[in-house]
Amino acid sequence: MSFQTLFTKMEDHTLIITINRPEKLNALNQQVMQDLDAVFDRVYKFPEIKSVVITGAGLKSFVAGADIKEFEALSKSEATALAKRGQDVFFKIENSPKPVIACVNGFALGGGCELAMSCHFIIASENAVFGQPEVNLGIMVGYGGSQRLTQKLGKARAMELVITGNNIKAEQALQYGLVNYIVPQAELLDKAFSLLAAAHTKAPLAIANSIKAVNAAWDESVNGYEVEANLFGDCFITSDCKEGIQAFIEKRKPHFTGH
Ligand code: COA
Repeated sequence: MSFQTLFTKMEDHTLIITINRPEKLNALNQQVMQDLDAVFDRVYKFPEIKSVVITGAGLKSFVAGADIKEFEALSKSEATALAKRGQDVFFKIENSPKPVIACVNGFALGGGCELAMSCHFIIASENAVFGQPEVNLGIMVGYGGSQRLTQKLGKARAMELVITGNNIKAEQALQYGLVNYIVPQAELLDKAFSLLAAAHTKAPLAIANSIKAVNAAWDESVNGYEVEANLFGDCFITSDCKEGIQAFIEKRKPHFTGH
């Protein structure tokens, strides 16, 4: 797998995606967005990829936002289209059937915070900084930040961040429920791998359905309880369901195949 702006590596069935523009603090230009879109096509398709970690190159930044230089000459309609394309890429990440963890290793500002929030959860390094500073530029969040920030932090905290443009440090992000763990920077990937190693022993279709059901809680076009009941039912036509229940009865470890 080769991409212009991403470095990818498979380790123990986890695809590590590193956004690789460290000289620009990994800012999301259109090439990065295209590459993220393309790499997630492969995540959906390839069974050998069981989970994903997204991080940023270097020690300073996860992603310092959308690439501001690309905003210089945008018309209204071009800006709207850019936001919609960005939202689509982040929907693809959020709806990934395989777990996606953001390992935030520094600045997660603007589109960087929005990217981290589109992942299933976030592990932050001690030097991580989160924020939506778009108002400093006379613009606003555009890659789903107004919605996901409100879902994750509640309205008042989301409002404060998008109105003031103030950043928050890792500790505060933990207190707000934006991140699940804070670890020293050198231990970010290890922490993700320890959580994913546990997930890799579970039934992949049960995990995919669980992700879908949780995401349905935020989808106003569906009844989340109904979605959950249907997905629960779907689990019962899988071989992994038979295997999991049989293994419990026989007091042995299950061997799941993803079918
Ligand atoms: N878009 C484009 N380039 C960016 C960028 C962004 N969002 N964020 C950082 N860069 C570039 C800088 O222009 C600089 O490039 P240069 O060396 O060619 O001038 C390089 O990355 C290093 O950034 P610099 O500002 O020198 O680092 P710093 O440590 O002094 O400051 C930040 C770090 C994150 C505070 C600062 O870069 C910043 O405020 N970035 C923009 C954050 C933002 O507003 N994001 C939302 C965008 S919609």
